[in-house]
Amino acid sequence: MTVQQSSSRPNSRTHSVAQALAAAPGTSVIIMGWVATKSSIGGIKFATIRDGSGYIQIACKKDRVPPESFADFETVTKESAVAVEGIVREDKRALGGKEISVTGFWIISLAEDWPITRSAVKSHSSFLYDKRHLAIRGRKTSAVIRVRAEIIYAAFDYFVKNGFTLISAPSIVQNAVEGGSTLFEINYFEKKAYLSQSAQFYEEASLAALGKVFIFQPAFRAEKSKTSKHLTEFWMIEAEQAFADQDDNIRLQENLVKSMAERVLANRSEDLKTLGRSFKFPEVPFPRITYDEAREISIKKGVPFEWGEDLPTEGERLISKEFEVPFFVTGYPLTARAFYHMTEETNDKITKSADLIAPEGYGEIATGGQRIHDFAQMSERIQKQDLPTESFEWYLELRKYGMPEHSGFGIGAERTTRWICGLKHIRAASLFPRTITRVSP
Ligand code: 4AD
Ligand code: MG
Repeated sequence: MTVQQSSSRPNSRTHSVAQALAAAPGTSVIIMGWVATKSSIGGIKFATIRDGSGYIQIACKKDRVPPESFADFETVTKESAVAVEGIVREDKRALGGKEISVTGFWIISLAEDWPITRSAVKSHSSFLYDKRHLAIRGRKTSAVIRVRAEIIYAAFDYFVKNGFTLISAPSIVQNAVEGGSTLFEINYFEKKAYLSQSAQFYEEASLAALGKVFIFQPAFRAEKSKTSKHLTEFWMIEAEQAFADQDDNIRLQENLVKSMAERVLANRSEDLKTLGRSFKFPEVPFPRITYDEAREISIKKGVPFEWGEDLPTEGERLISKEFEVPFFVTGYPLTARAFYHMTEETNDKITKSADLIAPEGYGEIATGGQRIHDFAQMSERIQKQDLPTESFEWYLELRKYGMPEHSGFGIGAERTTRWICGLKHIRAASLFPRTITRVSP
């Protein structure tokens, strides 16, 4: 396609940056994007333009463009939105091996001086997250968000292929799935309600209608601990299947995580390169260790804890550093688990549950287990644990009308992204993170 040099600003583009990079030398293009960098060498002015699909260098020579275009090129500032018309040329020195020789240049929206400077970033530690609405334009953040998206696409594909139906569930609820200590309370027309910690109970209800279900929606935890793996709002992928025990559940999880890794490697290898990240491919079956073995390792590494307690964060981190691929810790004591967990037939202190732990110190990414499906057992458990019977009434009632054995799990989108991208802190895996100290931007 030949593009005539136009003196008025074009109102649409012919190519994305990625398409321009892939176009044959000599192709005329109109691209639109933001100015990432600007420089000049001798009489030639350069800029790098990004549009979300990639970055491309453009070169502007005074005698090749109308005077207004040259003036705009001189005036333009970093992060301004621009339209560029030009010819694709091969240039071995340029990023991506191509460059656009500019024939027309227009400022669409001129940016003020970019506030994210080295000295501003150094001046206070929270600056980049205070300015997150702008800071996300960087190469690394975009790469992380694309990888996160790929992980989610992989999950949707995987579940659909395996016969699961996508459901939704309310975020405003009346029961604690994972215990009362991390509930966000809200005033719901003078009644107490909470933000949902997990959609699990709604999945369990949906089972009898749909057989196998999955869900992807935000979960809320009033986590009082400031750690590198806790957000107060995060996105969880959860799945639940009827007529499936804990072994089926574990297989479902490992194959899911494998397919996530596969898809990220196939489609987002450039992004992993941008992040300087490589990881060992997780072949199935994943390694499995018992809670008792995990506790032994933790004690050996100097983080002792009583049998029956949950793995301390530091112990979990040290155990996880011993592995190169994700692994399961199985057989958690009931005292470390939520009330709904089924216990072993031979030992009522041990649950049919497991955590999936990411390697290299990243820690837990999923928790799953087999649920009590028997009415009497569940009723007894609720009473034994002194839980508010009223709010669990409907959950219990499910066990009266044909509840088969069933199991499921929840895997955190940001925890998984953190491991796959190799991020120090989970907040980097969220576009606009919510933590104990942050509710803005
Ligand atoms: O281990 P959790 O609390 O398990 C559940 O909520 C189950 N009801 C899920 C189920 O069986 N359907 O949470 C599941 C996962 C964790 O393994 C972790 O990946 C993520 O959700 N997660 C968090 N991610 C970020 N910040 C937090 N505060 C998180 N809490 C849990
Ligand atoms: Mg857990």
